[in-house]
Amino acid sequence: LFAGPVEFLKSAPELRFLPDPDVPEVAFAGRSNVGKSSLLNGLTNRNGLARTSNTPGRTQELNYFDVGAPPVMRLVDMPGYGFAKAPKDMVRKWRYLVNDYLRGRQVLKRALVLIDSRHGIKDVDRDIMKMLDDAAVSYRLVLTKADKIKATELTAVLEQTGTEARTRPAAHPEIIVTSSETGLGMAELRAAVFESITG
Ligand code: GTP
Ligand code: MG
Repeated sequence: LFAGPVEFLKSAPELRFLPDPDVPEVAFAGRSNVGKSSLLNGLTNRNGLARTSNTPGRTQELNYFDVGAPPVMRLVDMPGYGFAKAPKDMVRKWRYLVNDYLRGRQVLKRALVLIDSRHGIKDVDRDIMKMLDDAAVSYRLVLTKADKIKATELTAVLEQTGTEARTRPAAHPEIIVTSSETGLGMAELRAAVFESITG
């Protein structure tokens, strides 16, 4: 699936800039700095495809990537949420954009909600999980930056995350543990992405 071309298509700061809904989409959501862009690069094996940075809130649009030419799937890097210094009107704009996108997008097959292994699920994550549940978009939780914590801590956060996922109507019960640094979980993630567009 990722052996062929993977290319940046466009940035959509508003819904009217979305591409035509004729290709299945898989979206990456998560707090600012959780590692969405890095994971997208790791998943597709393209360094520098999606811009990564240390400045939270860098990605403020829906960034589209075509997989295959012609595309068989589109990956969507969503704007991060939940960083402390976000101005109120930016947060409001984010809510509208994300909510409208999630509710109206027939071709959106699945979302991946990224959770930092070191922090576990936060209220801002519950917010987006609620939006996904309400929009009936199935999603999968992905723990990121697993290289940053000890195995025992990872086991604990995995347990907590799994328990919470099982209480969520649209969440998949199995959590994927990843590290973009070491490549941990990439094969499993690829399989999950593939499965989400094939049924
Ligand atoms: P926004 O676009 O601001 O929402 O951030 P993002 O979620 O796209 O995060 P990004 O991929 O830009 O990564 C943020 C920082 O975390 C960067 O400095 C990355 O190098 C680092 N990072 C991402 N994934 C990992 C990982 O698996 N392990 C480690 N150690 N660092 C990571
Ligand atoms: Mg990003």
